Amino acid sequence: MANPFRLLVLPGDGIGPEVVSVALRVFERLCQLEQIDVEINHDLLHGAAWDKYGTFCRDETVAAAKQSNALLIGAAGGAKWDNLPPPGATPAERDGLMRMREELETYACLRPSRAYESLLSRTPFKPENVAGADVLVLRELCGGLPYGTPRGIDELADGSFQAYDANFYTSGEIRRLAVTGFEVAGSRRAKVTSIDKSNVMESGILWRRIVSEVGADYPHIELEHLYADNALYQMMQRPTTFDVVIADNIFGDLASDLVASYAGSLGMLPSASLHGLNPGRPAIYEPVHGTAPDIAGQGIANPIGTILSVAMLFEYSMQRKDLAQRIENAVDRCLQAGVMSADLGGNASTDQIGEKIISALN
Ligand code: NAI
Ligand code: MG
Repeated sequence: MANPFRLLVLPGDGIGPEVVSVALRVFERLCQLEQIDVEINHDLLHGAAWDKYGTFCRDETVAAAKQSNALLIGAAGGAKWDNLPPPGATPAERDGLMRMREELETYACLRPSRAYESLLSRTPFKPENVAGADVLVLRELCGGLPYGTPRGIDELADGSFQAYDANFYTSGEIRRLAVTGFEVAGSRRAKVTSIDKSNVMESGILWRRIVSEVGADYPHIELEHLYADNALYQMMQRPTTFDVVIADNIFGDLASDLVASYAGSLGMLPSASLHGLNPGRPAIYEPVHGTAPDIAGQGIANPIGTILSVAMLFEYSMQRKDLAQRIENAVDRCLQAGVMSADLGGNASTDQIGEKIISALN
């Protein structure tokens, strides 16, 4: 018998545990229906880990992650834990999720968003402008500003302060992300838009040069370069003209929250963070949203972003696109039936949405 598929579940903080428990039920149900052998382990991350162990991410958790095929994570963070580590702590020491991304080297974060027929009126767009939008933001996840050093806040001689962050990218880091982007575009609509600030940033100049070099190896894929500020504007003006958008860690973070508006809510967006398109490496699946402290503990969070992250798990870590499609279809049926959470204007609870989607799977 083949080894079981090993999943490590890290619910995180805030609404993380609420959305993860529902998405995990979807995962278990589909594995049961398909007779997929799975081993599921649970651990804590970030605030929940700090409260119990005094660290945002234990070494044991990292070791377990490296032995897993996939991680299902909720979201991490909250004001309570923001200023605990001493100044000078590295980004990975300050944030359990950032440590996990770095340890697993999941540099390619795929964040798809699309306009749903049943949610067009929930978007800030005129329906005819957003209908048909279907974009995948590919965010670089292990470099750039969030990880760069030196960083700090220094006191100057006159008693004022100076803060600084460093945006480092090697050509190798840009190249491997770009390759992933062109490969993904090949199985979509064959267009890549690369966003940078090469007009004002050295890292942007190198970014554009390397992406162009990689693009030359993919003559059948259209390549468009946009300055990041204009790109965000164009993504609002002409949503349906984008396919794969590749961006560094910061611009990708901004762009992926923006495209969530096509889907009607940030709560709808899934992600897959991969070490390239190699299914042999552990990958992280998590919603794009954060811990939503404003609605945590009420059982009203939208679990669809996390459930669609499970769909991405089937597609990328199990190579079962058919099962990913089955979850996506079940989500469509749930929305068409009007079973929606408050962020989409409905009144269904997190659990009710999960139950509806599970029954639509059968
Ligand atoms: P957020 O994504 O948590 O919330 C933004 C807005 O979207 C809020 O109004 C929230 O209620 C709503 N929202 C988010 N997810 C939702 C869902 N599933 N259903 C319904 N409504 C939803 O971003 P915010 O407020 O900037 O950050 C809150 C905390 O989360 C912070 O501590 C931040 O550091 C952390 N965070 C963690 C992330 C992660 O773990 N990947 C990503 C972004 C933020
Ligand atoms: Mg974000």
